[in-house]
Amino acid sequence: MAGEGPDTGTGRVESQLTTRSFVQGRRMDLWALVLGLTAVWAAVLSRLDWAGVTRGILPVAVLSATALLCETFPARTPFTGGGTISVSGVLITATVLLLGPAAAAVVGFVATVRIVDDLVRRTSSLRVFLLNRVALSLGGALAGVVFVALGGVPGRVSLGIDLVAIVVASAVQFLTNALAAVGYSALRIGKRMSAVWAWDFSFANLSFLAYPVIGTLFALLWVGVGPLAVLVLLVPLGLSHLGNVKGVIRHEKLTRSAAAMMARVGTRDNFTPEHSQRVADMALELAGAMGLSPQEQELAFYAGYLHDIGKVEVDESIIMKPAGLDASEYAEVQRHVAVGEQMVRGLPLFQTGAPWILHHHERYDGQGYPNKLGGEMIPIGSRILAVVDAYDAMVNDRPYRKGMSPDRAFEQLRQGAARQFDPEVVAAFLRLKHVDVEPDFVDKARQRAAQDRGRLLARALPAFKGLFTLLK
Ligand SMILES: [Fe+2]
Repeated sequence: MAGEGPDTGTGRVESQLTTRSFVQGRRMDLWALVLGLTAVWAAVLSRLDWAGVTRGILPVAVLSATALLCETFPARTPFTGGGTISVSGVLITATVLLLGPAAAAVVGFVATVRIVDDLVRRTSSLRVFLLNRVALSLGGALAGVVFVALGGVPGRVSLGIDLVAIVVASAVQFLTNALAAVGYSALRIGKRMSAVWAWDFSFANLSFLAYPVIGTLFALLWVGVGPLAVLVLLVPLGLSHLGNVKGVIRHEKLTRSAAAMMARVGTRDNFTPEHSQRVADMALELAGAMGLSPQEQELAFYAGYLHDIGKVEVDESIIMKPAGLDASEYAEVQRHVAVGEQMVRGLPLFQTGAPWILHHHERYDGQGYPNKLGGEMIPIGSRILAVVDAYDAMVNDRPYRKGMSPDRAFEQLRQGAARQFDPEVVAAFLRLKHVDVEPDFVDKARQRAAQDRGRLLARALPAFKGLFTLLK
């Protein structure tokens, strides 16, 4: 189902790398959401005054044609699953100001259809097609209603008098579209709306803010110059579009590189790519739960996806070996972190992510590899990867053993807190999985780890004493 996912002129979220299973399970919920929204839309439209549309059929046609033109060349957002960003929001804002809610509902519904994608290639499902139309149309209608309610007069467009009405109407338009898109994506991929929101609006925020401004300027021009203002509008629209494309290309490069690299691993063993996908999804979610920035969350996703990429260089027979690696084989396996780091360091957009991969097998107590880093010396991304990597490895079957129950894995993580894993990360992960975590969990884990160190020291002390006597 290519192109599955909403596009409401504001972008959308979905993991392109996530390709399986969840679609079926949530299909009914998704339909319920879309049909519910359609019912609200129909109710709002039935209360609008449609006289303005029939009177202004020519302006509606010109605005719709311009929007259709813009939609023919949408900017892609590959990171979020092949979704698209367009500047049709600008034209809907302008229609609100020029012609009112009913016309904005029409432009939002008709003019945002992508002739090639939606009608010729049919890249969206019917559900997504309907969601996009309804969300954009509803956004325009509600913005128009709010604009009029706040004293705005369609066709007057006076910045001095209508500034507040314009700002509030634009916010309503944006939020209607954005919430519909984010809500749909969140439901579809089973993530929290806040995480989806952070993803969706992380790279093109400024252009979203610019849309209502450009839309208002366009409306002012239209009033002053007439429909020829469309020609002037195409310049800023083009520039804004280019801005989107730049952000989008960045994501596209990263996604393509990641997918190509993982394809190499997939030709050798088939559990690593699936494991990596799950680790990526969980790393993203955990990074969000820990309050990392949207950029870091994105990085956590890719680092999760590529964390074991270095295994392409490790002898296949060793990777598939059930147990009992000898010292040289273990050293060979350990090499995968450095190899992986080398491989991703070549990706110009992944500089910060490379150390996260290098250190994902470090332990919080400093006993891991490759550099025996401990505590906060380990990059936060690596500490997150360590937890989700271990969890996924524990609960899933491997060729040589069966996976354990989630409850047992949670217990293992608890036991490993402040020893193998950052206790704060473990606590955040357990909470994410709806496991009760005591308020003093982190402190207790640190105390336990300190006792471990004390015991180790006590055991080593006689040997030190012996050595000291000998030297004396
Ligand atoms: Fe690894």
